[in-house]
Amino acid sequence: MRILSVVGARPQFVKLAPVAAAASAAGVEHVVVHTGQHYDEKMSQSFFDTLQIPAPDVNLGIGSGSHAAQTGAMMAGLEPVFERYAPDWVLAYGDTNSTLASAVCATKLHLPLAHLEAGLRSFNRRMPEEHNRVLTDHAADLCLAPTEVAVGHLTREGLADRTVLVGDVMTDVVLRVAKAVAAEPVESPIGVGDTGYVLATIHRPDNTDERDRLAAIVEALARLDRRVYLAAHPRLVSRAEAFGIDLQAGSITVVSPLSYPQLVQALGGAAAVATDSGGLQKEAFLLGVPTTTVRTETEWVETLVDGWNVLTPDPADLAAALGRPAPTAERSAPYGDGTAAVRTVETLRSRRRP
Ligand code: UD1
Repeated sequence: MRILSVVGARPQFVKLAPVAAAASAAGVEHVVVHTGQHYDEKMSQSFFDTLQIPAPDVNLGIGSGSHAAQTGAMMAGLEPVFERYAPDWVLAYGDTNSTLASAVCATKLHLPLAHLEAGLRSFNRRMPEEHNRVLTDHAADLCLAPTEVAVGHLTREGLADRTVLVGDVMTDVVLRVAKAVAAEPVESPIGVGDTGYVLATIHRPDNTDERDRLAAIVEALARLDRRVYLAAHPRLVSRAEAFGIDLQAGSITVVSPLSYPQLVQALGGAAAVATDSGGLQKEAFLLGVPTTTVRTETEWVETLVDGWNVLTPDPADLAAALGRPAPTAERSAPYGDGTAAVRTVETLRSRRRP
């Protein structure tokens, strides 16, 4: 069996790591295609290096662009690659423009398409990620869902017969890496002895692309009475520069995007997380760090139980939310037991078209 994975953006490299390991352990041929959506060393290569992911077989080098220009260029680049490899499964990950491009391209070529992390919904149609995930789920032959909630969404949309609950592959990685950095700390701009800080990331267009909103978020973080490490995504840096907003203000210490082991290690010393990232909300939940999400909704609703994660769209409420005491309630395990990637490869094998 031949699986062809399409990845392009930072969270997809994290999800690829356990899938590549599981495919290799199962003796399954696995072709990796990188669209080039993320290209900075710290947004791409660092993940392949630190998570021991084999180098991509193909890198399309597409880079940035408007949604149509970026997605269209990816489709044009993917078509001959899909034809050349004729895989048993095209495996698309998550919700980026790379996901949508691979879904449309596989569908047009009549190649079986599986969508990993299927069924997530924010129900916010302003988000490009929401368009990408809904369209990909409905194009897919197989929806690999991370949670019961995701299965429920797919069922309500009439996709139950092509849905399988496999668990969350990001959980596989975060648990493994947390153990590794506890045993052997990694060098990082945030030292291991440093504790009690807020770890912050902000990169969603809804938070970065309008001057007043971005300024209000940065100001709220700068005014906190604790140190804030802001791991700055290139979108945040470029928008802040364009708007003349100084990120390095007050309590904020700006650090460049962290490698995955650095990020997991930084969660170990954090008293709280402020973010609009999907993945970080879940990683913080799994490692027991209270999180404040700077959005009106979350796809990972399980993190909200008992106040481990709190939605705080208004920057004026950030200080109070970040200052709340850590919940004492036990966390449940809605994201699986760390074996989702093995289940993913098994499912692809058992559902392969003859
Ligand atoms: C993308 C995904 C989002 C995911 C995020 C993780 C889409 C629509 N969004 O958002 O789901 O959560 O990745 O990071 O696919 N840039 C660089 N260097 C890079 C990458 C990006 O400088 O290596 C800059 C470019 O100026 C680009 C901007 O960042 O215009 C945004 O990148 P883009 O690919 O549009 O989306 P992300 O915001 O990263």
